[in-house]
Amino acid sequence: MKKIEIKSSATIYNNISELEIEDKNLMSKAIAARKNAYAPYSKFNVGAALLLENGEIVLGNNQENAAYPSGMCAERVAIWKAGSTFPKVKIKKLAITASSKITKVNKPVGPCGACRQTLSEFEINQKEPFSVIFMGEIGEIVKTESLLSLLPFSFDSSYL
Ligand code: THU
Repeated sequence: MKKIEIKSSATIYNNISELEIEDKNLMSKAIAARKNAYAPYSKFNVGAALLLENGEIVLGNNQENAAYPSGMCAERVAIWKAGSTFPKVKIKKLAITASSKITKVNKPVGPCGACRQTLSEFEINQKEPFSVIFMGEIGEIVKTESLLSLLPFSFDSSYL
């Protein structure tokens, strides 16, 4: 038997003005995307913006449905849009933000488990980590240097 330590690190920023210019720009695109979310049921709007290696920015937001499980998270809308529009172009960064019509989201909103799994496939395939930067509507911002750092012991194609 042995115990291991799982290490993960992140940088915490107090607000958007502390971000480096490229991150700030990407987060503003995610904020704009968030405003177009279709979230009449949860009233929780999420925006995602991906910066690709070719300079393209691909946006996504959550798309809900009256049949609740048929909806989709912002991150997966964005990543599949990137994968289908720019296959093989590497992802450099992902910015995520969320706001709610019910409450002020004042803590960082990281990608849900299903989104982490989906995003991990892209990071593995491109053989290069991409940063994930996430926030609520106000408050602190978290930046991690890789997606896989958010998903220890993840499942991948090596098991199949
Ligand atoms: N949601 C996202 O878009 N991304 C996440 O990572 C977490 C949750 C959406 C799904 C649903 O439309 C709403 O937020 C409430 O769960």
